[in-house]
Amino acid sequence: MQDIRVKVDSGSYLITQNLNDLKSFAKQKSKVLLICDSNTKQHALTIQNDLNCESLLEVLSPGEDTKSFTSIVYLLEKYSSQLNRASGVVLVGGGMIGDLGALFSSLLFRGIDFYMVPTTLLSMVDSSIGGKTAVNLKTGKNLAGVFSSPKGVFINFNFLKTLPWIELLSGYGELIKSALIDSEAFYQKALNLDLKGYFESKEVSDEFSTLVYKAMLLKKNVVQEDPFEKGLRKVLNLGHTMSHAIESYYKYKIPHGVCVFYGLFLEGALGKHLGYVDSNYPLEVLDKFRQLGLDEFDGKWRDLESWLKVDKKNFDATIQFAFLKKPGVLYDLQKISTSVQLEKVFEKEEIFS
Ligand SMILES: NC(=O)c1ccc[n+]([C@@H]2O[C@H](COP(=O)([O-])OP(=O)(O)OC[C@H]3O[C@@H](n4cnc5c(N)ncnc54)[C@H](O)[C@@H]3O)[C@@H](O)[C@H]2O)c1
Repeated sequence: MQDIRVKVDSGSYLITQNLNDLKSFAKQKSKVLLICDSNTKQHALTIQNDLNCESLLEVLSPGEDTKSFTSIVYLLEKYSSQLNRASGVVLVGGGMIGDLGALFSSLLFRGIDFYMVPTTLLSMVDSSIGGKTAVNLKTGKNLAGVFSSPKGVFINFNFLKTLPWIELLSGYGELIKSALIDSEAFYQKALNLDLKGYFESKEVSDEFSTLVYKAMLLKKNVVQEDPFEKGLRKVLNLGHTMSHAIESYYKYKIPHGVCVFYGLFLEGALGKHLGYVDSNYPLEVLDKFRQLGLDEFDGKWRDLESWLKVDKKNFDATIQFAFLKKPGVLYDLQKISTSVQLEKVFEKEEIFS
């Protein structure tokens, strides 16, 4: 995989498989704090060993409940006396550790440098790129955060070997999203990826790593053009309006990307019904979702309405969706997202079955 250079206001950083980039980051720091969760601790220990510098290790509980202000306050109070402005933070984990740890790093002493080591497929293709940090509130997911970029992102595909099947599927949901946004060709390749084969063999094929690379590149290109989500970046919310409602409904017990996977179908089906989507991709995505043995939404559609209302993208009684006419082609090139009256979303529930 070639290095990807991401330009940000303060300069640029690399997404790389070369450990030396992370090593030189650590070398410049007086002390390094590695943050991980108990499932990624083994990978954090590997990194800590490789870095061979003065370091501390913080192991948090896995899961969305940890992505909270309670954890931020805990980390700030604990490390404000053990670190200083010349220290660095290395975040070894999935999107939860990435979002939380990046927000913590951005707040401590008004911001200290941090470096990301994504350990889930989802965090490789999506959450480690783009500078969004966040914690969840009681009123909804990711409702508080700032934009803040890392000093680098280190990719090690070996870390994916310990990832449970459901988490691999979660990353696959975001991979399909990126592919749909990019082009028909990328979408077809992503849809036909032999994910089970990878899971059984643990061998990252060239085909698999190329798809991951393409997804990273897409995300980089989009966020570089629109870092603060004023326009184009909204396209990355494809499938996410519905997925956030489903995720909240199930109290975050279903992995984010699995909800996105299903959200791609739901929003596609809605878009097709409203005449915005002119492609069979929604049904193809649903077929794939079923083939992989995933469970569909089993609640009442109307129960999702209250969650759609608190989505931070929405205003008044309209809901914002990024619709694709077909893979690689946006429905609304100007505004990117399209407003739909809340009452219209579940008006014809049969379109989702
Ligand atoms: N910042 C962004 O732009 C952005 C984008 C998309 C998603 N997100 C956020 O990312 C989070 C989801 O990310 P995620 O799916 O990586 O979740 P996660 O970090 O919660 O990881 C999922 C599970 O896998 C475990 N895990 C992680 N790496 C592992 C490994 N290598 N081996 C074994 N187990 C491992 C974790 O402990 C956890 O139990 C959500 O909070 C979501 O809101 C942020």
